[in-house]
Amino acid sequence: MDTLYSNLLNPPYISHFLLLLFLASSYLHTSSHFCFCLVDGVPSIGSVRSCIEEERSALLSFKQDLKDPYGRLSSWVGRDCCQWEGISCTNRTGHVAKVDLRNPCSYDDEEGTYYNQSWLGGKINRSLLSLKYLNYLDLSCNYFDGIHIPKFFGDLKSLRYLNISSASFSGEIPPSLGNLSKLNYLDLGNSFYNTRSFEMHSKNLNWLSHLSSLKYLNLNGVNLSTEVPNLLHHVNMLPSLLELHLSNCFFESPPLSLQKINFTSLSVLDLSFTPNFDLYLSNNEVNTSSFPSWLFNLTSLRKLDLRWNSFGGPFPDELASLKSLEYLDLSHCGLEGQLPASLGMLKSMQHIHLSWLLLWGSIPASIGNLSSLKTLDLSNSNINGSIPESLGKLSELVRLDLSANPLEGILTEAHFINLTSLKICHIDNDGRPMPLVLNVAYDWVPPFKLQELGLEDFRIGPGFLGFLQSQTELEALSLRRAAILGSIPDEWFLKISSQVEYLDLAYNNFGGRLPFQLKFPKLMFIFLDHNQFEGPFPLWSSIAQILDLQSNLFSGPIPSNLDQLMPQLTYLDVSENNLSGTIPPSICNMKYMNTISLRKNKLFGEFPQQWSLWSEISIIDVSHNNLSGNIPSSMGIPSSLHEFKANNNNFGGEIPFSFQNCTHLAILSLGHNKFTGNLALRLGSNLSTLVVLGLRSNLLSGHIPHQLCNLVYLRTLDLAHNNFSGTIPKCLKNMTSLVKADAPFMESELSNIYDGQTTIMSKGEELDYGDYASFYWGLNIIDLSSNNFEGEILEQVGSLVELHTLNLSMNQLTGEIPSSIGKLRWLESLDLSHNHFSGHIPQNMSSLTSLSHLNLSYNNLIGRIPSGNQLETLNDPSIYEGNPSLCGAPLSTVCPGYDTGHIVPAEDLSKDDDEVFWFHVSMALGFIVGFWVVCGTLVLKKSWRYAYFKFFDNIKEKVALTIALKLARWQGKL
Ligand SMILES: *[C@@H]1O[C@H](CO)[C@@H](O)[C@H](O)[C@H]1NC(C)=O
Ligand SMILES: *[C@@H]1O[C@H](CO)[C@@H](O)[C@H](O)[C@H]1NC(C)=O
Ligand SMILES: *[C@@H]1O[C@H](CO)[C@@H](O)[C@H](O)[C@H]1NC(C)=O
Repeated sequence: MDTLYSNLLNPPYISHFLLLLFLASSYLHTSSHFCFCLVDGVPSIGSVRSCIEEERSALLSFKQDLKDPYGRLSSWVGRDCCQWEGISCTNRTGHVAKVDLRNPCSYDDEEGTYYNQSWLGGKINRSLLSLKYLNYLDLSCNYFDGIHIPKFFGDLKSLRYLNISSASFSGEIPPSLGNLSKLNYLDLGNSFYNTRSFEMHSKNLNWLSHLSSLKYLNLNGVNLSTEVPNLLHHVNMLPSLLELHLSNCFFESPPLSLQKINFTSLSVLDLSFTPNFDLYLSNNEVNTSSFPSWLFNLTSLRKLDLRWNSFGGPFPDELASLKSLEYLDLSHCGLEGQLPASLGMLKSMQHIHLSWLLLWGSIPASIGNLSSLKTLDLSNSNINGSIPESLGKLSELVRLDLSANPLEGILTEAHFINLTSLKICHIDNDGRPMPLVLNVAYDWVPPFKLQELGLEDFRIGPGFLGFLQSQTELEALSLRRAAILGSIPDEWFLKISSQVEYLDLAYNNFGGRLPFQLKFPKLMFIFLDHNQFEGPFPLWSSIAQILDLQSNLFSGPIPSNLDQLMPQLTYLDVSENNLSGTIPPSICNMKYMNTISLRKNKLFGEFPQQWSLWSEISIIDVSHNNLSGNIPSSMGIPSSLHEFKANNNNFGGEIPFSFQNCTHLAILSLGHNKFTGNLALRLGSNLSTLVVLGLRSNLLSGHIPHQLCNLVYLRTLDLAHNNFSGTIPKCLKNMTSLVKADAPFMESELSNIYDGQTTIMSKGEELDYGDYASFYWGLNIIDLSSNNFEGEILEQVGSLVELHTLNLSMNQLTGEIPSSIGKLRWLESLDLSHNHFSGHIPQNMSSLTSLSHLNLSYNNLIGRIPSGNQLETLNDPSIYEGNPSLCGAPLSTVCPGYDTGHIVPAEDLSKDDDEVFWFHVSMALGFIVGFWVVCGTLVLKKSWRYAYFKFFDNIKEKVALTIALKLARWQGKL
């Protein structure tokens, strides 16, 4: 699971990272900032007297109906019920006043879900009604498995405090709760990740208006969609209200209009996730709404949380009227425009979260007046210009996050001069070409000791090394693409080695040997990829979970006891190094391994037999080595595989049948080996998740099995250079991904995890495509070239309308080229050369407007070469040569009855080179476009943002949350 983590840090995943981080952080710090003190009205608690018998037996009946698998109520025996766990009685009368059975909610790392540690469940017995003096009832975070809230709660007339939040109740909230006229505190909220399983709703909130003493109301996650128009009307009957939580309540937009506000003492307002998260995740364009103006009358407001709303329109200047505001979160709100200078008037402000907005303009210098500011998060909000020096005045500032904004300019000592409290600092300009520059004097001693520092895409002056030397408390450091001149001195590694947990030095020009002897006792996440580090594998930490050494000059063998040296590894990428030797079999003992890439090294010998021990493995890439022998299957193949790449090795034997059991397999790349046998039984419905099947250049034979057509997600089918024979199956038209524009993408973790590469032949060149591209920009290739296929290609080829490349060259195919081929509107490359095609070239091939590579040479085609549109540009005569009966331009053979032969101009001879050039350019563009689609445009164009959230939905939530929380932990003090 940790593998996701790392790739979230690689573009284009960085935005997931931020999004997840945001999610995590927001969930972690809800409710922590404001201490709501309710005590007023709750009688003093104690146990001078022993309890009243009638109440004791009521509690016992209550206990009897509860499920208590963890024995939490084991103290509920004996006479004095006032001594029982969770029970408190009043001092004077000895009546039970308080039943507090709250279960500490906790998050389980392994499971990736919130789970209620030692929950109580079952039914709630009416005997509670005998507790006449009960004023405090807390059953929160237990697990009542979807039962309804008991109606009789409305008869617990003394209640002042009722908390049954996140306890898996469902159904209609009983209107009888309206009888609890003494209630101060009502929490029926559901934590975010519980909302999906159990949903509460209230069709009519009249009951709420009766709770006129209410100071705290939490209905988070309750479906109030039918009550939107009246909601504020009901809330307006609660004049004492101090806190109102209506997050994720299924409104489409926050309630807009209100005549006159009654609840003017409101201190905390949470209307986040309006519309609720499901709407964001759906494909639909979310309607925007305007910023509710009644908010500006809530002048006592200290905390305002409106993140994940869908406001259109400019950033509201009037916010400055909320003078008491200490906490403001408008992240993911769709607000546009400039940050008003008036923000600087909110003198009490402590926490500003304005990430993922559509802002422009720079950070107002007046921010420097917010002398209490502790958090400033403006990440991913398109803020440009230079960073104001006034920021350096914020002596209380703990967390500064300006990451992923098109910032520019030079940062100097002045920007940091009084930041004495700063612990967390993230600044980067999202990979834009004009880097930010950090220019500080070498002997400058910063006023802070940071725990986290992320300066990515920076140009860092030489003074930085002095700066770094002073940062001896770093737990996380990222200097990704920081273009640091020189190398990091060993002494500095020594200084930070004892506490650093996260280290990212990727994409720099660091060279030389690393200090290998160093021990980093806490280091878990190590990114040293894309540098020029030399020497053996660094073994710095025995608790490493991620080790990314891709593209360096590391050499020597993979340590044979790596399983003991780094037993926690989940992600190991040593691709593109000079590692030699064999793959140590002990590597299969690393039971958490999820992604392992050994691509492009000099490894030889056999693939380890016991690889089925990897029960969590998702991605294995051993391509481009000198490995030999069979793909071992005697002990099984791990069924959790999503991606297996062993291409460009010397593997032989048959492709193991047990790949059938890999029900998530999306990429199987075995090209350029010596595999033999046929495919007949080895493919089919069981592998229906395949997206890429690469078997190029092997010794495979036999027919293409019809089951191949069941691969509805397949986008790349490469069987070229084998000995396959028989006809091309008619059922190809069932391959949905190649037939339908809106075919569903394979929902695979793959797309979110590892930015691997697949070597694919396209337009006469083998290229490494990022897997992300294969999945989301659909390469859509069928390459059956250099086999012994025979027979005709039928009209149904025309159904493969999503195809980009079709290569059937070097076979024994006969018959005419079907005219339906003109329907392949995206076809860029068509190679039918070296077959026995006969007849005319269909005229409608001129409608293939995307075609940039065509080869029809060495067939028996006859007649005039069609012209028009794209075909005019494909004027290299060699693409038609070897067809003695073809005539017309660009061939010099004049068609009978015409005399206008076309002479090939000299400059066209360089066409091939040009094409290669343009192909690379378009690849590069593809990458840039891809990158910006995800990272850049999202902030700029709203509809794309929502599409992106849809994409986000494909991630298994559990995984996402795990990562998010791990990141959050890494992020430190949120
Ligand atoms: C109730 O009893 C507890 C413990 O005996 C004591 O601490 C508390 O002050 C008492 N409260 C009142 C109001 O007497
Ligand atoms: C304000 O609250 C009072 C009593 O709580 C109620 O009578 C009145 O109608 C409310 N005003 C509005 C405008 O809702
Ligand atoms: C907000 O305050 C203004 C000025 O006091 C008042 O005129 C207006 O009616 C108030 N609006 C609401 C919705 O209470």
